[in-house]
Amino acid sequence: MASYGVLLILPEGGFVDLQGKTVAITGAGRGLGRATALALADKGAQLALLDLDTGLLAETAGACRERGVQVAEYEADISHEETVESTFATIADDFGALHGLVNNAGITRDGLLVKARDGKVQKKLALDDWQAVINVNLTGVFLCAREAAAQMIETGSEGAIVNISSISRHGNVGQSNYTAAKAGVAGMTVTWARELARYGVRVAAIAPGFINTPMVQNMKPEVLEKLVGSIPLRRLGQAEDIAKGVIFIFENDYVSGRVVEIDGGLRL
Ligand code: CAA
Repeated sequence: MASYGVLLILPEGGFVDLQGKTVAITGAGRGLGRATALALADKGAQLALLDLDTGLLAETAGACRERGVQVAEYEADISHEETVESTFATIADDFGALHGLVNNAGITRDGLLVKARDGKVQKKLALDDWQAVINVNLTGVFLCAREAAAQMIETGSEGAIVNISSISRHGNVGQSNYTAAKAGVAGMTVTWARELARYGVRVAAIAPGFINTPMVQNMKPEVLEKLVGSIPLRRLGQAEDIAKGVIFIFENDYVSGRVVEIDGGLRL
């Protein structure tokens, strides 16, 4: 029999059962957040749902409760540090240990960096539009991950954080602000995966392509039509396609530090 100089003791790994685990989801009122909440409820996870829109939040929460899981709703602006700190403290009081975060909430304020016609500048991307997107899509993701990670470390819950990046992180016309934030989210995912692995906390991301959500439905119809024509699968994705990716990351405990692309084959 061959003998080896180093004895490798491999920890047990594999499947993570979501039944009874507590997962927080930002932007849970609609789109990807709502679909992810429903998919996690189907897996038996307890849900802490965050959104600014309490009406939409209540609707998602009701649909999750119908699936028989414990759900709590939190009205929260994730770009506001004290709000995020107090919301996650309340989640800890309500549920005890936190096992997962889906860092999903995001907004768009699309516009060209500079719009010109016949050599004359007509419009510039407003600083307010830049800052609004950075505040939610980058700072908000940072704040929620920080609080979730702090809790997971203190409770030893060995959870996972799933960040929602975007295909736009590669650079998309009209999305200077969104591209900057989503590229930042992809980068932070790798940093946090490396920093938090020692506590048993995994961090990974999904980069959705163009998914049939209110965000994409708000695009100019002619721009959207042209874009769909360039997707190899010739159609928009469904929110459920992304929810399946989130479940995959939670359930497979050898996934960390990577961005999973779910985009119908589109390359920007
Ligand atoms: N590629 C190349 N050129 C483009 C372009 C593109 N994708 N989009 C616009 N342009 C050009 C136009 O052809 C136009 O050129 P001409 O003047 O020569 O005709 C010029 O830029 C100005 O375009 P608009 O007339 O459309 O200018 P606007 O100020 O009315 O609108 C815009 C600008 C808001 C950026 C608009 O073009 C737009 O909505 N673009 C789509 C942005 C986009 O893809 N958003 C994704 C939202 S969904 C999402 O973000 C989810 C996710 O994760 C993917």
